[in-house]
Amino acid sequence: MPRPQPDAQRWSLRVDPPWSLDAWRDGARDALLRGVAPEQLDWLQGSDASLLDAPAVATAPVLDGASVPNVPRDFLELAATCLCHRDGQRMPLLYRLLWRITHGERSVLSNPADADVLRAMALAQAVRRDSHKMKAFVRFREVPGQADAFIAWFEPDHYIVDRVAPFFARRFAGMRWAILSPDRSVQWDGQALAFGPGARREDAPADDVQESLWQTYYANIFNPARLNTRMMLQEMPARYWRHLPEAQLLPGLVRDAAERVQDMHDRPAQAPQRKIPARAPAPMPTGAGNSLQALRQQALACRQCPLWEPATQVVFGEGPADARIMVVGEQPGDVEDLSGHPFAGPAGKLLDRALQELGIDRGALYLTNAVKHFHHERRGKVRLHKRPESRHVHACQPWLLGEIARLRPQVIVCLGATAAASVFGSGFKLARDRGRWHTLDDGTRGYATVHPAWVLRQGDDARREEAYRLFRDDLQRLQVGDSASAGHGPALPPTPDR
Ligand code: URA
Repeated sequence: MPRPQPDAQRWSLRVDPPWSLDAWRDGARDALLRGVAPEQLDWLQGSDASLLDAPAVATAPVLDGASVPNVPRDFLELAATCLCHRDGQRMPLLYRLLWRITHGERSVLSNPADADVLRAMALAQAVRRDSHKMKAFVRFREVPGQADAFIAWFEPDHYIVDRVAPFFARRFAGMRWAILSPDRSVQWDGQALAFGPGARREDAPADDVQESLWQTYYANIFNPARLNTRMMLQEMPARYWRHLPEAQLLPGLVRDAAERVQDMHDRPAQAPQRKIPARAPAPMPTGAGNSLQALRQQALACRQCPLWEPATQVVFGEGPADARIMVVGEQPGDVEDLSGHPFAGPAGKLLDRALQELGIDRGALYLTNAVKHFHHERRGKVRLHKRPESRHVHACQPWLLGEIARLRPQVIVCLGATAAASVFGSGFKLARDRGRWHTLDDGTRGYATVHPAWVLRQGDDARREEAYRLFRDDLQRLQVGDSASAGHGPALPPTPDR
């Protein structure tokens, strides 16, 4: 590599905004075409003043015969990521690498022991990690007085707002939102991203109505027996807690966890209180002749499949006998089996949250399941949910068809693939048919969406929130179109188009 003289002319190069690959690349290209070595460059970020008062590199003479070098794509990707790091030395580091690549060390990036390469990789890794945390921990709050407008405050470690904003635009395309941070803000109006200067924390709303709902839900799904504070702190470092509504609960939940686990451990294993009458199997329902109430009574003694035996009780459908909307789930879970009511556990709470946000009264709906007994496996004191098998769904189908025949709902919403297959037939594929209207032989219309338990199982907060929004969007169609129903629970969809 040619070595500049100690008193070689110095040049300045400004990169603005300092995380922009385009801005850095234009400057670096100018410097290369002029043969300016790394040691001669005084890098300036944004509006920084030059301490050395060096002239701008663009005023240096271009070398005879110089041409724009061809740079490996890997390097440009690495540079784009590193530039988002706050490290003040990242620009000279990248230029040094570029200089080496264009001066005889073209494959330097493939040498993982090289000090410059190692450093650049470490910076890029920190930026990727920060970006991941932003995706997971940004929490939007409703702007008071503005329907459907949301603001989030976030303090990233690095200059990642521009890099991560497209993720939020894709995920929350239907919302109007802004993310404010100390260095940069970004706004999405449903069409395009607009970037602006940084803001103050006070510019974002501190609280909103969703917050306490979210906290209730979080406290419900928090499992003290699964608490691993080391993993938790690794995944959710304490400095992000100030952005998270659930974080206010964590110290208490963590403090009480050991005691709660000990309690669970000390409590004698309790066989669920069996509520299934020990009498002869009920006849399977026929026709639509008798009432829902009579059907429910008959189902109490059902023995059409083995699930009745370990279950506590039949969990039959619930809701007004003239409900116009029927919601069909998969099967009762642990909480439902013990309480005897459908959708009483965590999945039910999430369904409630969506209904509440959409202004749909749960009390106006008829809620039921494809299978009426809890299919589970006992592991010690814990009863683990197991998916019902098709023979269980098949055995239970007459009860579900009996409910449909007696209720005559206008719309059936199936939650999850099991419910959808039971109502619309085994050819139903949730991935393909989600949200598409189907008409049953008796003229009842319906569609399927995902099960709320599936939403809860999504790996991280960002994915869970996105899955929840899509789930809620699917339920939203229950509100569309029928003005005649105003004041009598949810509106019904217009004539299906598919
Ligand atoms: N999941 C269901 O499908 N139904 C319930 O009732 C509860 C959880």
